[in-house]
Amino acid sequence: MKRGKWASSFGFVLAAAGSAVGLGNIWRFPYVTGQNGGALFLIAYLIAVIFLGLSVMYAELSLGRHTHKNPVGAFEKIKPRSLWKGVGFLGIVTGISILSYYAVIAGWTLFYTYISAAGKFKQGLSQTDVNGIFSSLVSSPLLTVSLLFLFMLITVYIVSRGVSSGIERWTGILMPLLFVILIFLSVYALTLPGASEGLKFYLSPDLSKLNFHLVLTAVGQAFFSLSLGMGAMITYGSYLPDKDNLFSSGLEVVIFDTLVAFLAGIVIFPTVFTFNLSPSQGPTLIFKTLPFIFSKLPLGRLFATLFFVLLSIAALTSTISLVEVAVAYLVDERNMPRTKAAFLVGLIAFILGIPSALSSSIKPFTSFIAGKDFLSIMDFTWANVSLPLGALLISTFVGFIWKAKNAAEEIRFHKSKKFPGENIWIFFIKYIIPLVLLAIFISTVL
Ligand code: PHE
Repeated sequence: MKRGKWASSFGFVLAAAGSAVGLGNIWRFPYVTGQNGGALFLIAYLIAVIFLGLSVMYAELSLGRHTHKNPVGAFEKIKPRSLWKGVGFLGIVTGISILSYYAVIAGWTLFYTYISAAGKFKQGLSQTDVNGIFSSLVSSPLLTVSLLFLFMLITVYIVSRGVSSGIERWTGILMPLLFVILIFLSVYALTLPGASEGLKFYLSPDLSKLNFHLVLTAVGQAFFSLSLGMGAMITYGSYLPDKDNLFSSGLEVVIFDTLVAFLAGIVIFPTVFTFNLSPSQGPTLIFKTLPFIFSKLPLGRLFATLFFVLLSIAALTSTISLVEVAVAYLVDERNMPRTKAAFLVGLIAFILGIPSALSSSIKPFTSFIAGKDFLSIMDFTWANVSLPLGALLISTFVGFIWKAKNAAEEIRFHKSKKFPGENIWIFFIKYIIPLVLLAIFISTVL
């Protein structure tokens, strides 16, 4: 079967940015930052993005573009009949697992779109009102599971339409708009009375809080946010024409993604401190914070609705890429028709997502392991453990099996002269990244 291709390189950047920008930036980043003490976490995160994320981004994109294959096929093509294709399978499993709970949260954003449009975030909103709205959602098994189902259905439908007419057409168009709204909300958040306290929490680090859990979480967040460590960027890179400039495309995606996350923090933390909320409350953070900001804004109803529509779309362009990894495998390697593959993957992820959807309503999912609910356990396992592990294996493969200099040639524009920082990149992908990730793993286990 003929493989898909992006229609333009700008289309690719939008699709890859669409994969990267999502709930990871606006839902996950503020909540893990809040849980890990704020500013110090932000610094660790930025270091992880620049020193680990960017390098792994190039490793994945070059592997995909060079082989024009799904993650399993890519490893198999370069090192046939070896265990390395297991890394591709790990990516597929990780993708489906992340998708399963990610779509639950995405379902919440759909519900919040509806609540906003219905004008529920009105002037004088109290803490009790906000909690009430949230708990009426998450305590309803029927509602959360239906929203999960709905979101999965939309994702699968778009993926079934194919690479350029489905994914490329739908992704990215509204991304710039989301960005503009975030800037607007940031400016507004900075005028709130708690802004200075919020910024202090977010931007002035307390070095005594440094620990390995924080470092692992920052690294996990960096990979999660950039869609790395599970083959999404291998897959998206595989649809790139050979003449595209990987270096600049990869850089643009990383910069845009990081800016969006940073801005989300600028919106959330001043709001948290203005309304005496807890920055460390976990996955519920944005859902209990943002309503306050909307309730105070002039035209708040309009802004709230627009914001949650865009957030749902940002989530959608990410779930699309999570599905696409497994679909690319089924289409390339198993000759399955795209539509059938998309629906199969969606069905598996939906079933796997049900316990996450019930994480706030039904035992034992409400307190699954060590008092944490099922969704939090899934999020920790797949984002903080599996993605760094995948990134470790991918870098080792690119550095030593495929060989970093071959990958570097793929990254070069028109395969001619060296790209900026080429030697540093080679050094990082071979030594720094594997060693740092290994060290983090060992210390976390100990
Ligand atoms: N990067 C996406 C986000 O930040 C999530 C994602 C992770 C997508 C891994 C694909 C692969 O929302």
